[in-house]
Amino acid sequence: MVARDIVIADPDRHFGPLLEHGWSLHNSEASHPDALVHELITLGDRLGTRVAGRAGLLEEIVQPLATEDAHPRSLSARYGLDALPFHIELSHRTRPCRYVLLACIDPGSPAAATMLLDWQTLGFSPEELDLLEGTPVLVRSGRRSFYSTILAPGGAFLRYDPGCLEAVDQRGRRVLAVIEDRIACASFVSHHWRQGDILIIDNWRVLHGRSPSDRGSGRRLARVLVDA
Ligand SMILES: [Fe+2]
Repeated sequence: MVARDIVIADPDRHFGPLLEHGWSLHNSEASHPDALVHELITLGDRLGTRVAGRAGLLEEIVQPLATEDAHPRSLSARYGLDALPFHIELSHRTRPCRYVLLACIDPGSPAAATMLLDWQTLGFSPEELDLLEGTPVLVRSGRRSFYSTILAPGGAFLRYDPGCLEAVDQRGRRVLAVIEDRIACASFVSHHWRQGDILIIDNWRVLHGRSPSDRGSGRRLARVLVDA
């Protein structure tokens, strides 16, 4: 039996920390995966408009994939079951989605953590911010590839995904090196999943990554992406 009438009792409980820290966490009481996905959709609809991920679906079940099983342009195609580096979801779109919502159906065994990193804590100097906002890089997305900057005008969002960004000149190489260096020595939060956990991430502010996983670990997260 699948619950279809879940009411989010106290939305501020989720959205207050989201505004303050760029992410929020709570544990759902949903006992069935379908009910958990439905709760995720309800939360997503409160935040904005759901958008499709790479596979064209408005809600997805994501699991660690070996390189040969992954979408050819995804991070998993490059990194497979190794750690997935910090990135902003949908960096290959002209406007990355605003929120990423994840719900843990099964943490897997061995489990893999999700890492969170607020780019505003990376300590960029004013000169580096100018470089991030003013240096074009190539955003690879097949026939839809385009040029853009890592930092949107006014710092509205960061576009960063080592799987799709490519320097086209010396400044571009420098800007990518700057951000890689900062991320490499940043302190971040590791979230270790429990079944029923729901994580809402402000994708314009907080980068996420994944610790290494194993083939057949059983880790499954539901994912909803939201424009707002
Ligand atoms: Fe991601």
